Amino acid sequence: MDSNEMDLEALQKENLELREKVAGSKQTIKTLRRNFQGMVQLLTEAISLGNMFLGSHMKRSAEMTKAFCEYLKLPKDIVYLNYYVALLHDIGLVGSKSELIEKTVDDLNDADKKMFFEHPVLGFEIINSIYSLKKTALIIRSHHENYDGTGFPDKLASGEIPIESRVIHIINDYDMNRFKFSLNPEEIQIKMDPLGGSIYDPDLLNKFQGFISHFEKNNNGSAHFIEAESLKPGMYLDQDIILSNGLLLIPGGVLLDGVMLGKIQSFSTNLFHKNKIRVIY
Ligand SMILES: [Fe+2]
Repeated sequence: MDSNEMDLEALQKENLELREKVAGSKQTIKTLRRNFQGMVQLLTEAISLGNMFLGSHMKRSAEMTKAFCEYLKLPKDIVYLNYYVALLHDIGLVGSKSELIEKTVDDLNDADKKMFFEHPVLGFEIINSIYSLKKTALIIRSHHENYDGTGFPDKLASGEIPIESRVIHIINDYDMNRFKFSLNPEEIQIKMDPLGGSIYDPDLLNKFQGFISHFEKNNNGSAHFIEAESLKPGMYLDQDIILSNGLLLIPGGVLLDGVMLGKIQSFSTNLFHKNKIRVIY
């Protein structure tokens, strides 16, 4: 074997070792990513157990964010980042009283209002403590900043607000209008459209309006069919509850609370629904 052949053999060996190392690193990244996904999913399930509405809001926001990013044809890693940021965006509200999540800000007392306005910073602090999630923490911090600089907590404006936060702001408000205030897609569009340029990034809002009609038509991802006795507070009623004599007991499009559940239980033998009831959570 001459020296050229020996060099070639050494080079091939080195190349093979390098490929093995890259394959090993890719596997490690995959495993870390899978662990992270599992951890965040587990956390969201735990949040749902404490407050079903909050957990469902975070899950729905994540699904809608993913679909919106795919609609915008963003690269896969950006879709992935935005999905998990949306899944965590209200983590600063975990452990808060349910009134804080279920009432409008204007209806909260001063102490609760203060807590609500602090939740993006609290969320930032929780996530920022994890070294690899510093960018995620900053996005969470800014998800209530307004495009014109009137939002909170830092009064950032337009390009100062991370684009991911601008996306989540739109999706957060759409979901709250849909499930907290029980507005239909047309009513939400009328409410949100004039806010492009003041509250929301006008360009993103424009793209979102194009996306949402398509999403609403095709999305059944969060709908479930549940027996009447298994309904829980915080579930969104996606159909009317009708009595066997045809009278309407509870209209669809409302968020179930204890009073409504009591009503359903007391009429349980007289419900029209022999099958399961369609809810979203
Ligand atoms: Fe929030």
